[in-house]
Amino acid sequence: MAAVGFPSIQAQAKQPLKAVILGIGGRGGGAGQNFLAAAKQVGAEASIVAVADIFPQQARRGSESFSVPGDKCFAGFDAYMKALEQPGVNYAILAAPPGFRPAHFKACIAAGKHVFMEKPVAVDGPGCRIMYAAYEEAKKKGLKVAAGTQRRHQAGYVETVKKIQEGAIGDVVTLRAYWVNGGPIWHRGLQGSTDLEKQIHNWYHYIWLCGDHICEQHVHNLDVCNWIMNAHPVRCWGMGARQQLGASAGEIWDNFAIEYEYENGVRMYSYCGQIKRKWASVSEAAHGTKGWSNPGGEIFVKGQPRWRASLKLDSGDPYVQEHIDLIRAIQNGTELNEAKNVTDSTLTAIMGREAAYSGMAVDWDAILNSKFAYGPELLYTDAAKMQFGPFRTLKPPMPSIHDVFSTPPVVPAV
Ligand SMILES: NC(=O)c1ccc[n+]([C@@H]2O[C@H](COP(=O)([O-])OP(=O)(O)OC[C@H]3O[C@@H](n4cnc5c(N)ncnc54)[C@H](O)[C@@H]3O)[C@@H](O)[C@H]2O)c1
Repeated sequence: MAAVGFPSIQAQAKQPLKAVILGIGGRGGGAGQNFLAAAKQVGAEASIVAVADIFPQQARRGSESFSVPGDKCFAGFDAYMKALEQPGVNYAILAAPPGFRPAHFKACIAAGKHVFMEKPVAVDGPGCRIMYAAYEEAKKKGLKVAAGTQRRHQAGYVETVKKIQEGAIGDVVTLRAYWVNGGPIWHRGLQGSTDLEKQIHNWYHYIWLCGDHICEQHVHNLDVCNWIMNAHPVRCWGMGARQQLGASAGEIWDNFAIEYEYENGVRMYSYCGQIKRKWASVSEAAHGTKGWSNPGGEIFVKGQPRWRASLKLDSGDPYVQEHIDLIRAIQNGTELNEAKNVTDSTLTAIMGREAAYSGMAVDWDAILNSKFAYGPELLYTDAAKMQFGPFRTLKPPMPSIHDVFSTPPVVPAV
Protein backbone atom coordinates (compact mmCIF):
# COMPACT_ATOMS: atom_id res chain seq x y z
CA MET A 1 0.00 0.00 0.00
CA ALA A 2 1.44 3.39 -0.98
CA ALA A 3 1.87 5.93 1.80
CA VAL A 4 -0.23 9.05 1.25
CA GLY A 5 1.92 12.10 0.45
CA PHE A 6 4.87 10.13 -1.01
CA PRO A 7 5.36 9.30 -4.69
CA SER A 8 4.47 5.60 -4.84
CA ILE A 9 6.50 3.00 -6.70
CA GLN A 10 3.34 2.44 -8.74
CA ALA A 11 3.43 6.09 -9.81
CA GLN A 12 7.10 5.76 -10.86
CA ALA A 13 6.27 2.58 -12.76
CA LYS A 14 3.70 4.42 -14.79
CA GLN A 15 6.02 7.28 -15.69
CA PRO A 16 6.75 6.95 -19.43
CA LEU A 17 10.41 6.50 -20.35
CA LYS A 18 11.54 9.18 -22.78
CA ALA A 19 14.97 8.34 -24.16
CA VAL A 20 17.64 10.09 -26.17
CA ILE A 21 20.48 8.40 -28.04
CA LEU A 22 23.85 10.20 -28.02
CA GLY A 23 25.87 8.73 -30.90
CA ILE A 24 23.57 6.86 -33.25
CA GLY A 25 25.94 4.56 -35.11
CA GLY A 26 25.90 0.76 -35.08
CA ARG A 27 25.61 0.32 -31.31
CA GLY A 28 23.52 3.42 -30.63
CA GLY A 29 20.92 2.13 -33.09
CA GLY A 30 21.14 -1.39 -31.63
CA ALA A 31 20.89 -0.16 -28.04
CA GLY A 32 17.83 1.91 -28.99
CA GLN A 33 16.11 -1.24 -30.28
CA ASN A 34 17.22 -3.18 -27.17
CA PHE A 35 15.76 -0.43 -24.94
CA LEU A 36 12.39 -0.58 -26.73
CA ALA A 37 12.33 -4.40 -26.58
CA ALA A 38 13.17 -4.32 -22.86
CA ALA A 39 10.44 -1.76 -22.12
CA LYS A 40 7.91 -3.92 -23.97
CA GLN A 41 8.91 -6.98 -21.95
CA VAL A 42 8.67 -5.06 -18.68
CA GLY A 43 5.39 -3.38 -19.70
CA ALA A 44 6.77 0.18 -19.55
CA GLU A 45 5.67 2.94 -21.88
CA ALA A 46 8.78 4.02 -23.79
CA SER A 47 9.87 6.08 -26.77
CA ILE A 48 12.96 7.67 -28.26
CA VAL A 49 12.27 11.39 -28.39
CA ALA A 50 15.55 12.83 -29.73
CA VAL A 51 18.93 11.71 -31.03
CA ALA A 52 22.32 13.41 -31.28
CA ASP A 53 25.24 12.64 -33.51
CA ILE A 54 28.21 14.60 -34.69
CA PHE A 55 27.40 14.02 -38.36
CA PRO A 56 24.01 15.06 -39.91
CA GLN A 57 23.79 11.92 -42.05
CA GLN A 58 24.10 9.80 -38.91
CA ALA A 59 21.64 11.93 -36.91
CA ARG A 60 19.03 11.33 -39.62
CA ARG A 61 19.05 7.67 -38.59
CA GLY A 62 16.88 8.81 -35.68
CA SER A 63 14.02 9.46 -38.12
CA GLU A 64 14.73 6.41 -40.26
CA SER A 65 15.00 3.90 -37.38
CA PHE A 66 12.88 5.39 -34.58
CA SER A 67 10.52 7.89 -36.28
CA VAL A 68 12.10 10.75 -34.34
CA PRO A 69 10.92 14.08 -35.89
CA GLY A 70 13.59 15.62 -38.13
CA ASP A 71 13.94 18.70 -35.92
CA LYS A 72 14.79 16.45 -32.94
CA CYS A 73 17.66 14.74 -34.77
CA PHE A 74 20.51 17.02 -33.71
CA ALA A 75 23.96 17.16 -35.30
CA GLY A 76 27.25 18.72 -34.20
CA PHE A 77 29.51 18.79 -31.14
CA ASP A 78 26.73 20.43 -29.08
CA ALA A 79 24.01 18.04 -30.30
CA TYR A 80 24.14 16.06 -27.04
CA MET A 81 23.17 19.14 -25.02
CA LYS A 82 20.27 19.93 -27.35
CA ALA A 83 18.95 16.36 -27.10
CA LEU A 84 19.22 16.36 -23.29
CA GLU A 85 17.27 19.64 -23.11
CA GLN A 86 14.16 18.15 -24.76
CA PRO A 87 11.10 18.14 -22.48
CA GLY A 88 10.49 15.05 -20.37
CA VAL A 89 13.74 13.22 -21.25
CA ASN A 90 14.62 10.84 -18.40
CA TYR A 91 16.74 8.08 -20.03
CA ALA A 92 19.95 8.59 -22.03
CA ILE A 93 21.71 5.99 -24.18
CA LEU A 94 25.40 6.85 -24.64
CA ALA A 95 27.09 5.25 -27.65
CA ALA A 96 29.44 7.83 -29.15
CA PRO A 97 33.16 6.92 -29.32
CA PRO A 98 34.61 6.41 -25.81
CA GLY A 99 36.66 9.63 -25.82
CA PHE A 100 33.41 11.61 -25.58
CA ARG A 101 31.91 9.45 -22.80
CA PRO A 102 33.13 11.51 -19.81
CA ALA A 103 31.70 14.72 -21.29
CA HIS A 104 28.41 13.06 -22.21
CA PHE A 105 28.01 11.17 -18.92
CA LYS A 106 28.82 14.24 -16.84
CA ALA A 107 26.20 16.26 -18.79
CA CYS A 108 23.57 13.52 -18.35
CA ILE A 109 24.10 13.31 -14.59
CA ALA A 110 24.13 17.11 -14.24
CA ALA A 111 20.80 17.15 -16.11
CA GLY A 112 19.35 14.40 -13.85
CA LYS A 113 18.96 11.59 -16.41
CA HIS A 114 19.16 7.83 -15.87
CA VAL A 115 21.87 6.42 -18.12
CA PHE A 116 22.71 3.39 -20.16
CA MET A 117 26.27 3.85 -21.43
CA GLU A 118 28.47 1.77 -23.63
CA LYS A 119 31.92 0.63 -22.60
CA PRO A 120 34.69 1.75 -22.40
CA VAL A 121 33.94 4.98 -20.59
CA ALA A 122 37.18 6.94 -20.98
CA VAL A 123 40.60 6.80 -22.60
CA ASP A 124 42.90 8.32 -19.96
CA GLY A 125 43.29 9.21 -16.26
CA PRO A 126 41.64 12.66 -16.48
CA GLY A 127 38.62 11.12 -18.27
CA CYS A 128 38.29 8.43 -15.57
CA ARG A 129 38.38 11.07 -12.85
CA ILE A 130 35.43 12.82 -14.50
CA MET A 131 33.61 9.47 -14.57
CA TYR A 132 34.25 8.75 -10.88
CA ALA A 133 33.06 12.24 -9.92
CA ALA A 134 29.89 11.87 -12.00
CA TYR A 135 29.31 8.41 -10.46
CA GLU A 136 29.33 9.99 -6.99
CA GLU A 137 26.98 12.70 -8.20
CA ALA A 138 24.61 10.10 -9.70
CA LYS A 139 24.55 8.22 -6.38
CA LYS A 140 23.64 11.41 -4.51
CA LYS A 141 20.83 12.13 -6.95
CA GLY A 142 19.52 8.53 -6.93
CA LEU A 143 20.06 8.17 -10.67
CA LYS A 144 20.37 4.66 -12.10
CA VAL A 145 23.22 3.70 -14.41
CA ALA A 146 23.82 0.54 -16.44
CA ALA A 147 26.93 -0.11 -18.53
CA GLY A 148 27.47 -2.04 -21.76
CA THR A 149 29.69 -4.61 -20.04
CA GLN A 150 26.87 -6.99 -20.84
CA ARG A 151 28.40 -10.13 -19.33
CA ARG A 152 27.18 -8.75 -15.97
CA HIS A 153 23.63 -9.18 -17.35
CA GLN A 154 24.19 -12.60 -18.96
CA ALA A 155 22.73 -15.59 -17.12
CA GLY A 156 25.75 -17.94 -17.45
CA TYR A 157 28.17 -15.33 -16.10
CA VAL A 158 25.85 -14.10 -13.33
CA GLU A 159 25.41 -17.60 -11.90
CA THR A 160 29.01 -18.77 -12.37
CA VAL A 161 30.72 -15.67 -10.97
CA LYS A 162 28.49 -15.94 -7.89
CA LYS A 163 29.58 -19.56 -7.38
CA ILE A 164 33.26 -18.64 -7.80
CA GLN A 165 32.84 -15.85 -5.24
CA GLU A 166 31.20 -18.38 -2.87
CA GLY A 167 34.32 -20.55 -3.09
CA ALA A 168 33.38 -23.18 -5.71
CA ILE A 169 36.99 -23.35 -7.02
CA GLY A 170 38.61 -22.55 -3.67
CA ASP A 171 40.70 -19.40 -3.39
CA VAL A 172 41.32 -17.76 -6.76
CA VAL A 173 45.06 -17.78 -7.50
CA THR A 174 45.28 -16.84 -11.20
CA LEU A 175 43.05 -15.33 -13.88
CA ARG A 176 43.35 -15.26 -17.65
CA ALA A 177 41.63 -12.82 -20.02
CA TYR A 178 41.62 -13.09 -23.83
CA TRP A 179 40.35 -10.94 -26.67
CA VAL A 180 42.42 -12.46 -29.41
CA ASN A 181 40.68 -11.93 -32.73
CA GLY A 182 41.41 -13.39 -36.10
CA GLY A 183 41.23 -10.21 -38.15
CA PRO A 184 42.07 -6.52 -38.39
CA ILE A 185 39.63 -3.74 -37.50
CA TRP A 186 37.59 -1.64 -39.93
CA HIS A 187 38.74 1.60 -41.58
CA ARG A 188 36.14 3.88 -43.20
CA GLY A 189 38.44 5.71 -45.61
CA LEU A 190 39.58 9.29 -45.28
CA GLN A 191 36.30 11.26 -45.16
CA GLY A 192 36.14 14.94 -44.18
CA SER A 193 38.34 17.98 -44.62
CA THR A 194 39.76 18.62 -41.14
CA ASP A 195 41.90 16.44 -38.86
CA LEU A 196 39.14 16.16 -36.26
CA GLU A 197 36.54 15.14 -38.82
CA LYS A 198 38.78 12.51 -40.39
CA GLN A 199 39.77 11.13 -37.01
CA ILE A 200 36.19 10.93 -35.69
CA HIS A 201 35.09 9.04 -38.82
CA ASN A 202 37.84 6.52 -38.08
CA TRP A 203 37.69 6.84 -34.31
CA TYR A 204 38.97 3.33 -33.65
CA HIS A 205 42.43 4.30 -34.96
CA TYR A 206 43.08 7.20 -32.54
CA ILE A 207 43.96 6.89 -28.85
CA TRP A 208 42.02 10.02 -27.79
CA LEU A 209 38.84 8.53 -29.24
CA CYS A 210 39.03 4.78 -28.57
CA GLY A 211 41.74 4.26 -25.94
CA ASP A 212 43.37 1.60 -28.17
CA HIS A 213 42.23 -1.96 -28.69
CA ILE A 214 42.95 -3.11 -25.11
CA CYS A 215 40.54 -0.46 -23.84
CA GLU A 216 37.95 -0.54 -26.60
CA GLN A 217 37.37 -4.32 -26.72
CA HIS A 218 39.39 -6.16 -24.12
CA VAL A 219 37.72 -4.14 -21.34
CA HIS A 220 34.93 -6.78 -21.45
CA ASN A 221 37.29 -9.58 -20.34
CA LEU A 222 39.19 -7.42 -17.86
CA ASP A 223 35.82 -6.49 -16.36
CA VAL A 224 34.93 -10.16 -15.79
CA CYS A 225 38.21 -10.69 -13.91
CA ASN A 226 37.62 -7.57 -11.78
CA TRP A 227 34.06 -8.75 -11.12
CA ILE A 228 35.29 -12.16 -9.91
CA MET A 229 37.87 -10.47 -7.67
CA ASN A 230 35.46 -7.72 -6.58
CA ALA A 231 38.52 -5.47 -6.96
CA HIS A 232 40.78 -3.90 -9.56
CA PRO A 233 44.49 -4.64 -10.10
CA VAL A 234 46.94 -2.32 -8.39
CA ARG A 235 49.88 -2.60 -10.79
CA CYS A 236 50.91 -4.13 -14.10
CA TRP A 237 53.65 -4.47 -16.68
CA GLY A 238 53.63 -5.85 -20.20
CA MET A 239 54.28 -5.41 -23.87
CA GLY A 240 52.60 -5.05 -27.24
CA ALA A 241 53.12 -3.76 -30.76
CA ARG A 242 51.68 -2.22 -33.87
CA GLN A 243 52.50 -5.25 -35.92
CA GLN A 244 50.06 -5.52 -38.82
CA LEU A 245 48.55 -2.01 -38.93
CA GLY A 246 51.97 -0.91 -40.16
CA ALA A 247 51.99 2.43 -41.98
CA SER A 248 48.18 2.74 -42.29
CA ALA A 249 46.50 5.86 -40.85
CA GLY A 250 46.26 6.12 -37.07
CA GLU A 251 48.41 5.54 -34.03
CA ILE A 252 46.98 2.58 -32.07
CA TRP A 253 48.73 -0.75 -31.57
CA ASP A 254 47.19 -4.07 -32.57
CA ASN A 255 48.28 -6.45 -29.79
CA PHE A 256 49.06 -6.38 -26.06
CA ALA A 257 50.16 -8.95 -23.41
CA ILE A 258 49.89 -7.61 -19.86
CA GLU A 259 50.46 -9.15 -16.44
CA TYR A 260 48.29 -7.54 -13.76
CA GLU A 261 48.59 -7.90 -9.99
CA TYR A 262 45.73 -7.46 -7.50
CA GLU A 263 46.31 -6.17 -3.97
CA ASN A 264 46.15 -9.74 -2.54
CA GLY A 265 48.88 -10.94 -4.91
CA VAL A 266 46.60 -12.72 -7.43
CA ARG A 267 47.92 -12.35 -10.99
CA MET A 268 45.79 -11.83 -14.09
CA TYR A 269 47.33 -12.61 -17.48
CA SER A 270 45.75 -10.59 -20.25
CA TYR A 271 46.17 -11.06 -24.01
CA CYS A 272 44.44 -9.08 -26.71
CA GLY A 273 44.99 -8.37 -30.36
CA GLN A 274 43.23 -7.63 -33.59
CA ILE A 275 45.56 -9.13 -36.12
CA LYS A 276 45.27 -11.84 -38.73
CA ARG A 277 46.08 -15.13 -37.02
CA LYS A 278 45.00 -18.76 -36.94
CA TRP A 279 44.23 -19.20 -33.22
CA ALA A 280 41.63 -16.93 -31.65
CA SER A 281 39.76 -16.79 -28.35
CA VAL A 282 37.48 -14.32 -26.62
CA SER A 283 37.17 -15.74 -23.11
CA GLU A 284 38.21 -15.63 -19.48
CA ALA A 285 39.37 -18.28 -16.98
CA ALA A 286 39.73 -18.33 -13.20
CA HIS A 287 42.03 -20.86 -11.50
CA GLY A 288 41.58 -21.68 -7.83
CA THR A 289 43.04 -23.94 -5.15
CA LYS A 290 40.32 -26.57 -5.83
CA GLY A 291 39.65 -26.26 -9.57
CA TRP A 292 39.06 -23.81 -12.37
CA SER A 293 36.21 -22.09 -14.15
CA ASN A 294 35.17 -20.66 -17.47
CA PRO A 295 33.11 -17.89 -15.85
CA GLY A 296 30.72 -17.89 -18.79
CA GLY A 297 29.10 -21.02 -17.37
CA GLU A 298 31.36 -23.92 -16.32
CA ILE A 299 33.23 -25.09 -13.24
CA PHE A 300 35.73 -27.96 -13.10
CA VAL A 301 36.74 -29.40 -9.74
CA LYS A 302 38.99 -32.47 -9.57
CA GLY A 303 37.03 -35.65 -8.87
CA GLN A 304 33.64 -34.01 -9.52
CA PRO A 305 31.50 -33.90 -12.68
CA ARG A 306 31.64 -30.66 -14.67
CA TRP A 307 29.17 -28.08 -13.28
CA ARG A 308 27.21 -26.06 -15.84
CA ALA A 309 25.18 -22.88 -15.31
CA SER A 310 21.42 -23.23 -15.76
CA LEU A 311 20.09 -19.86 -14.57
CA LYS A 312 17.55 -18.12 -16.80
CA LEU A 313 16.99 -14.35 -16.74
CA ASP A 314 14.05 -12.41 -18.24
CA SER A 315 15.83 -12.27 -21.57
CA GLY A 316 18.36 -14.64 -23.08
CA ASP A 317 19.83 -11.58 -24.81
CA PRO A 318 22.18 -9.71 -22.44
CA TYR A 319 21.89 -6.57 -24.62
CA VAL A 320 18.15 -6.50 -23.81
CA GLN A 321 18.62 -7.70 -20.22
CA GLU A 322 20.86 -4.72 -19.34
CA HIS A 323 17.96 -2.38 -20.22
CA ILE A 324 15.42 -4.59 -18.39
CA ASP A 325 17.60 -4.37 -15.28
CA LEU A 326 17.95 -0.59 -15.65
CA ILE A 327 14.23 0.00 -16.25
CA ARG A 328 13.32 -2.17 -13.24
CA ALA A 329 15.75 -0.23 -11.03
CA ILE A 330 14.17 3.05 -12.18
CA GLN A 331 10.64 1.77 -11.66
CA ASN A 332 11.24 0.09 -8.31
CA GLY A 333 13.77 2.53 -6.90
CA THR A 334 16.30 -0.30 -6.37
CA GLU A 335 20.08 0.15 -6.43
CA LEU A 336 21.82 0.02 -9.84
CA ASN A 337 24.85 2.13 -10.64
CA GLU A 338 27.50 0.38 -12.72
CA ALA A 339 29.49 3.55 -13.42
CA LYS A 340 32.21 2.73 -10.87
CA ASN A 341 32.69 -0.88 -12.01
CA VAL A 342 32.95 0.04 -15.66
CA THR A 343 35.32 2.93 -14.88
CA ASP A 344 37.50 0.61 -12.78
CA SER A 345 37.70 -1.83 -15.70
CA THR A 346 38.34 0.98 -18.19
CA LEU A 347 41.20 2.27 -16.01
CA THR A 348 42.52 -1.29 -15.71
CA ALA A 349 42.78 -1.34 -19.52
CA ILE A 350 44.34 2.14 -19.63
CA MET A 351 46.92 1.11 -17.00
CA GLY A 352 47.87 -1.94 -19.08
CA ARG A 353 48.10 0.13 -22.25
CA GLU A 354 50.38 2.73 -20.64
CA ALA A 355 52.60 -0.02 -19.20
CA ALA A 356 53.08 -1.46 -22.69
CA TYR A 357 53.40 1.92 -24.45
CA SER A 358 55.99 3.19 -21.97
CA GLY A 359 57.84 -0.04 -21.20
CA MET A 360 57.45 0.69 -17.48
CA ALA A 361 55.65 -1.02 -14.59
CA VAL A 362 52.64 1.19 -13.85
CA ASP A 363 50.63 1.40 -10.66
CA TRP A 364 46.98 2.31 -10.19
CA ASP A 365 47.41 5.61 -8.40
CA ALA A 366 49.91 6.86 -10.98
CA ILE A 367 47.55 6.21 -13.89
CA LEU A 368 44.49 7.42 -11.99
CA ASN A 369 46.19 10.70 -11.12
CA SER A 370 48.04 11.19 -14.41
CA LYS A 371 47.60 14.66 -15.84
CA PHE A 372 48.08 13.77 -19.48
CA ALA A 373 44.89 13.84 -21.59
CA TYR A 374 45.06 12.55 -25.16
CA GLY A 375 42.20 14.62 -26.62
CA PRO A 376 41.75 18.29 -27.54
CA GLU A 377 41.69 20.69 -24.58
CA LEU A 378 37.95 21.46 -24.81
CA LEU A 379 37.00 17.77 -24.64
CA TYR A 380 36.97 17.74 -20.84
CA THR A 381 36.21 21.38 -20.19
CA ASP A 382 33.37 22.18 -22.61
CA ALA A 383 32.95 19.52 -25.30
CA ALA A 384 29.82 21.24 -26.67
CA LYS A 385 32.06 24.12 -27.81
CA MET A 386 34.44 21.95 -29.87
CA GLN A 387 34.64 22.62 -33.59
CA PHE A 388 36.08 20.74 -36.52
CA GLY A 389 39.64 21.89 -37.12
CA PRO A 390 43.29 20.89 -37.02
CA PHE A 391 44.50 18.42 -34.42
CA ARG A 392 47.71 16.56 -33.79
CA THR A 393 48.33 13.00 -34.90
CA LEU A 394 50.58 11.06 -32.54
CA LYS A 395 53.27 8.76 -33.79
CA PRO A 396 52.44 5.21 -32.64
CA PRO A 397 53.80 5.08 -29.08
CA MET A 398 57.33 3.70 -28.71
CA PRO A 399 58.40 2.03 -25.43
CA SER A 400 61.06 3.89 -23.44
CA ILE A 401 60.18 7.12 -25.34
CA HIS A 402 56.42 7.38 -24.71
CA ASP A 403 55.74 8.43 -21.10
CA VAL A 404 52.51 10.14 -20.06
CA PHE A 405 53.70 10.48 -16.45
CA SER A 406 56.53 12.92 -17.01
CA THR A 407 54.85 14.70 -19.94
CA PRO A 408 53.52 18.14 -18.94
CA PRO A 409 49.74 18.24 -18.38
CA VAL A 410 47.72 18.87 -21.51
CA VAL A 411 44.50 19.81 -19.72
CA PRO A 412 44.05 21.29 -16.26
CA ALA A 413 43.87 18.66 -13.51
CA VAL A 414 40.31 17.37 -13.21
N1 LIG B 1 28.88 -3.77 -25.61
C1 LIG B 1 29.18 -4.18 -26.82
O1 LIG B 1 29.21 -5.37 -27.09
C2 LIG B 1 29.44 -3.17 -27.89
C3 LIG B 1 29.34 -3.53 -29.25
C4 LIG B 1 29.62 -2.56 -30.21
C5 LIG B 1 30.01 -1.28 -29.83
N2 LIG B 1 30.09 -0.96 -28.51
C6 LIG B 1 30.53 0.38 -28.08
O2 LIG B 1 29.65 1.38 -28.59
C7 LIG B 1 30.37 2.55 -28.89
C8 LIG B 1 30.09 2.97 -30.34
O3 LIG B 1 30.50 1.94 -31.20
P1 LIG B 1 29.83 1.74 -32.64
O4 LIG B 1 30.28 0.42 -33.13
O5 LIG B 1 28.39 2.03 -32.58
O6 LIG B 1 30.57 2.88 -33.48
P2 LIG B 1 29.94 3.70 -34.72
O7 LIG B 1 31.09 4.40 -35.36
O8 LIG B 1 29.10 2.80 -35.55
O9 LIG B 1 28.99 4.76 -34.02
C9 LIG B 1 29.46 5.85 -33.28
C10 LIG B 1 28.56 7.03 -33.60
O10 LIG B 1 28.89 8.11 -32.73
C11 LIG B 1 28.89 9.30 -33.52
N3 LIG B 1 29.69 10.32 -32.82
C12 LIG B 1 31.02 10.56 -32.89
N4 LIG B 1 31.34 11.59 -32.07
C13 LIG B 1 30.19 12.01 -31.48
C14 LIG B 1 29.88 13.04 -30.57
N5 LIG B 1 30.83 13.85 -30.07
N6 LIG B 1 28.60 13.20 -30.22
C15 LIG B 1 27.62 12.42 -30.72
N7 LIG B 1 27.87 11.42 -31.61
C16 LIG B 1 29.14 11.22 -31.97
C17 LIG B 1 29.45 8.86 -34.86
O11 LIG B 1 29.19 9.76 -35.89
C18 LIG B 1 28.73 7.53 -35.03
O12 LIG B 1 27.47 7.68 -35.63
C19 LIG B 1 31.84 2.24 -28.59
O13 LIG B 1 32.17 2.70 -27.31
C20 LIG B 1 31.91 0.73 -28.62
O14 LIG B 1 32.89 0.17 -27.79
C21 LIG B 1 29.81 -1.88 -27.55
